[in-house]
Amino acid sequence: MPSLALSVLVALVVSGLQVSAQNCACGYKDSSGHVWREAIVSTFTQSSGALAAVNQDWIVATDFEGQDGTATANIQYVSANVFQYQDALGLKASAYTGGGSVDCAEIFTKRSDILYGSFRMRAQVPSVPGVVFGFFTYISDTQEQDIEFLSSDADYYQRLYYTNQPGLINGDTDPNAAKEVVVPGADFTTFGVHRFDWLPSQTVYSYDGSGVTSQTVITKNVPTTPSEFVLNVWSNGDPQFSRGPPTADSIATVQSVNLYFNSTSVSAASFNSACSAAGNIAPCSV
Ligand SMILES: *[C@@H]1O[C@H](CO)[C@@H](O)[C@H](O)[C@H]1NC(C)=O
Repeated sequence: MPSLALSVLVALVVSGLQVSAQNCACGYKDSSGHVWREAIVSTFTQSSGALAAVNQDWIVATDFEGQDGTATANIQYVSANVFQYQDALGLKASAYTGGGSVDCAEIFTKRSDILYGSFRMRAQVPSVPGVVFGFFTYISDTQEQDIEFLSSDADYYQRLYYTNQPGLINGDTDPNAAKEVVVPGADFTTFGVHRFDWLPSQTVYSYDGSGVTSQTVITKNVPTTPSEFVLNVWSNGDPQFSRGPPTADSIATVQSVNLYFNSTSVSAASFNSACSAAGNIAPCSV
């Protein structure tokens, strides 16, 4: 049936998947049993290099973000700070030289149609103080869910900031939307997997690394709008949050980012017909 075979191919191309040996036309089943139609798998350790994986699915930010309030410096995202580093992807905020802005790093997906999914990265956090390392969905300041690491925290190697924005209510932290989690025994400076599963009713944040696991659920402010996915390392010198700016380069090292998701671009009906055309094979386990 050439037309069905063609539609499978088109669905794969449209969804940004590489047509590879593994056929996941019936989607991806995650460890919680949820099925996702599409995937972006960025393996920064691949032989063709981290930046080749970046260029396939991500945009490197180059914008200037002027800061106010208690910030002491502006943010300048620069492409040079997204770089091949130790057989992985490096994202860095550069040592501050006093020029008024900090050179920082950000990548975001070319796609901004992601709506629900299971998102994982295998990474080491920056250990030079004064930066924020973020792994998050974003479409607006009130439709955003974040994992953040603050390298100025004394226990930065085991403290997580999980937030479904807005994380403030009447100017104070909203404990139902923003949770600070310390994982005893964890060492985020070694490679481990940070994950969140964005579901309609909740965001399930988790960590699996250094021989320990941890899970935190946030049911408030779960985003409902198609979004992009973002990783960044930044500082604005704000004594109330990022602190810094860093006095030496502060680098996050990312081996992989695997995003399994549904989007507003591939309907359930077109997914089902592509799966059926592929013989209703089992979903790929992820
Ligand atoms: C994602 O897509 C799958 C396959 O179409 C569907 O079964 C599932 O309910 C969707 N998940 C969400 C959260 O919409």
